[in-house]
Amino acid sequence: MNKKISFFKEAVKNYKTSGTLVPSSRYLANRMLNSIDFSKATVIVELGPGNGAITKSILEKIQPHTTLICFEINDVFYNELKEINHEQIILIKDSAENIIEQLQKLGFNEADYIVSSLPLTIIPKKISTNILQKSYTILRKKGLFIQYQYSLTYYKKLKKVFGKNITLDFETFNFPPAFVYKCAKK
Ligand SMILES: C[S@@+](CC[C@H](N)C(=O)[O-])C[C@H]1O[C@@H](n2cnc3c(N)ncnc32)[C@H](O)[C@@H]1O
Repeated sequence: MNKKISFFKEAVKNYKTSGTLVPSSRYLANRMLNSIDFSKATVIVELGPGNGAITKSILEKIQPHTTLICFEINDVFYNELKEINHEQIILIKDSAENIIEQLQKLGFNEADYIVSSLPLTIIPKKISTNILQKSYTILRKKGLFIQYQYSLTYYKKLKKVFGKNITLDFETFNFPPAFVYKCAKK
């Protein structure tokens, strides 16, 4: 089945966790990644890779010394991601809430970049708050938490965690057009 159609079907079934009906465009993926210094990144974490729209762009740019760790809770998307055959990717079928425990199990105490497509405005507040706080904790100093959203409603929440160290970007060539937040840890 065409990947866009299978994404659509799965996203409709699980709208409360997917938060969208179509995968991100290549333009949005590039905008999410254009602040990453791939020459220096050791650990990149992706939260909510879905069927891999952004994952594939990360893997195109990744350097040999980097590990990409992806957290996905949806069975169908997780199985699709397993088809990506790349020795630098580690797929974890667990909630992003367990980011610290899972990274530590793998022997990593920090992440350089966290790239998130999680629908933070839709998932329960307790879970989204927990994910943001844990992401902040595991990020290295000056590391970036990069998140796209279709509205500005989450800006306030991100400010509570990251303070003023947030830059905002916008990508028109995506359905729907999306804001990209780049949040730096002090
Ligand atoms: C908006 S989709 C993004 C898919 C893809 N990254 C893209 O941009 O096209 C959000 C994804 O987050 C996943 N997700 C939702 N809650 C999650 C959680 N707590 N932990 C890990 N993944 C989660 C969903 O299953 C879904 O695949």
